[in-house]
Amino acid sequence: MKSRTTFRRGQSDPVAESVAPYSDHADDYAAVHAPKMADRVERFAGSLPVPSLILDAGCGPGRDLARFRKHGHVVRGVDLNSVFVAMVNAHAPTSECDLREVGSRFPAGTFDGIWASASLVHLDLVDAVDVLGQFAGLLRPGGRLYVCLSATGRTGWLDEPDGRRWYTVWDPDEFAATVASAGFTIDSVDRGPYVEVWATRGG
Ligand SMILES: C[S@@+](CC[C@H](N)C(=O)[O-])C[C@H]1O[C@@H](n2cnc3c(N)ncnc32)[C@H](O)[C@@H]1O
Repeated sequence: MKSRTTFRRGQSDPVAESVAPYSDHADDYAAVHAPKMADRVERFAGSLPVPSLILDAGCGPGRDLARFRKHGHVVRGVDLNSVFVAMVNAHAPTSECDLREVGSRFPAGTFDGIWASASLVHLDLVDAVDVLGQFAGLLRPGGRLYVCLSATGRTGWLDEPDGRRWYTVWDPDEFAATVASAGFTIDSVDRGPYVEVWATRGG
């Protein structure tokens, strides 16, 4: 049984607090991270028939939505940060949404693919498990999931130049087992500073 004992009672929502600082430097964030993840996007895009409907869950400034569209896919984005959502909406349909409620925002089985690049990092274990279950519900049987999150460092608050953020650090094997328990077949696990899980929705 996962526990959320790491969040102290009475504090404001750690996820909202962690997401807020992205607003202050949204353009800089987009520029710094623009070159990243291209090979992963290519691999995920190529694992789906064209066109497929892909949800970028925690899309940030929208780098990967634009790439998926170039591959011929149809995209939707969600993010909790309103500044990122406004940026992305200029070129891809995106809505402000907390991933902890994403399952209620679209009908079950809507998506062929869900892409969650470093977007579950600020959730505690309990919420991450719950969100993975919501992802399973939103994917059609046989739909694909990519999810990566922190595998090095320490779980807890991290003071960063633009503010403090909560990070949950996962053991890669435990994370892969958690994804499997949420209703997925694990296709592969890449281990590095981030654990990256490629999975297929069972059913
Ligand atoms: C580290 S950034 C990654 C952004 C983008 N996916 C990328 O790979 O560059 C984390 C993103 O997840 C979003 N995020 C974090 N927790 C979220 C939540 N509970 N609901 C929706 N978005 C969330 C943040 O606002 C931010 O855009």
